[in-house]
Amino acid sequence: MKIGFSKSSLDQLEVPALAVFAFEEQPAVSGTVCHLPDETREQLEELRKSGELTGKLYETALLHRPAGLSARTLLVVGAGKESKFSGAVLRRLSGAAVRYLRGRGTHSLAWLLGPKTAGAEAVQTIVEGGILADYDADTYRSERKDEKRIDGFQLATGGVEPSEEARVAAERGRIVAEAQNFTRELVNEPSNRMTPAILAERAQEMAAQYGHEFQALGAEEIQTLKMGALWAVAQGSEQPPRLIVLRYTPLGAPALPVIGLVGKGITFDTGGISIKPAADMHEMKTDMAGGATMLGVMRAIAQLKPAVRVIAVIPAAENMPSGKAYRPGDVITSMSGKTIEVLNTDAEGRLALADAITYAKQQGATVLIDAATLTGAVTVALGNITTGVFGWNKDWVKRVLASAEEVGERMWELPVDDDYRDLYKSSIADMANTGGRYGGAITGAMFVGEFAGDTPWVHLDIAGTRWSNEEKPYLAKGPTGHPVRTLVHLLTHVEGQ
Ligand code: BES
Ligand code: MN
Ligand code: ZN
Repeated sequence: MKIGFSKSSLDQLEVPALAVFAFEEQPAVSGTVCHLPDETREQLEELRKSGELTGKLYETALLHRPAGLSARTLLVVGAGKESKFSGAVLRRLSGAAVRYLRGRGTHSLAWLLGPKTAGAEAVQTIVEGGILADYDADTYRSERKDEKRIDGFQLATGGVEPSEEARVAAERGRIVAEAQNFTRELVNEPSNRMTPAILAERAQEMAAQYGHEFQALGAEEIQTLKMGALWAVAQGSEQPPRLIVLRYTPLGAPALPVIGLVGKGITFDTGGISIKPAADMHEMKTDMAGGATMLGVMRAIAQLKPAVRVIAVIPAAENMPSGKAYRPGDVITSMSGKTIEVLNTDAEGRLALADAITYAKQQGATVLIDAATLTGAVTVALGNITTGVFGWNKDWVKRVLASAEEVGERMWELPVDDDYRDLYKSSIADMANTGGRYGGAITGAMFVGEFAGDTPWVHLDIAGTRWSNEEKPYLAKGPTGHPVRTLVHLLTHVEGQ
């Protein structure tokens, strides 16, 4: 999708569609509708009287050959109640415009910027919404929606020169949203086409394209490094594991912090010998969403170039039952030296993360952030809407939550507390890999945190938010690319710390 600015005055702006928004209190005289010529607004007033223009959230009204404009059509997207308006709503409005129009054979549009929505932040948000909305999980459909996609998205200033900040913000929005869509594409891949080796190849391609240092350790190296926890998960599969490592070391960045991004990369999770029920097992192709998130984040920061060192570590493996698989009751020794009694082979993510975290620390990470589809329990607590955030270090937890708030990704902190540690005690090893049903998201998180030790660490459980089961007016059903935006925002705001 090409993003550009148009400074033509509205009576001269020739586009297939001009998109504006309006609030439900006064749908013909609010939002960016206010900046339309009088004669256009008179037509909109007619539409309002007929009940076709409501301003209700995401409801659309389309006007052909609008008076006073050169645009072929005028699309009004409802913005809901003005008191609930926010950047997050604005992102969805531009998305709703894109999805409405492309479904009706329009391939390019102009989004009208008003005085309140022409600032850098608003521009970035509008561009993000447009690009995210243009994604569909249709890689494997013979009849792809490609033809339907939008190729041109202009920001219309209505006659004034766009500021330099606005241009930079539009570019930032493009970079972030394209990175998020890259993550969504990876998450959508079925497991026969997304093995650990293929994930490593995709990471390598991306790293080569954007200039990151890349490394992938294979089965032998994983065993040589004594990553007994990651290896235990991988050993039942015919697909050899990979430990994918990317490094971003910009010239002139301070020596500290080194941010370690650790993403769960289980390319398929059958549960292993503690096998999952058949019903929703296919969904476990998305169990590498944490890893895909970190690849999206790395793709974005290569272009945004924050002055901070980052190392991404993705333990990639397939969790399968077989004659070679690890068993309930096995005791394994992690790279850290801590021994783990496996009580459930379906609690594999924390095992893979344990060794990846130890490795990231050994490689110099001084702050750890992990993203993982770790527990069904987090979905019970927060649904598909909100990512669970955990960590002992309140400063970094706060930074993550603040970033999430800024970029419109919902997150909520759940507690970690020593009182929960008893739940994953083992009678024969240093700890067990499960803590039972109650507080499952917390004990899962804390197990991972045991390997971070004193290093500041934030864990994001994205088991619920990685995927959207419903089509939204502004977003396709399928992979969401959460929490790419939050982490990109965080990394582009750690400078000078
Ligand atoms: N990958 C799953 C968690 C998951 C569930 C992700 C639903 C996305 C949607 C994870 O490996 C898992 O199986 N967790 C177990 C842990 C339990 C055995 C302690 C769970 O949540 O049931
Ligand atoms: Mn599992
Ligand atoms: Zn899993």
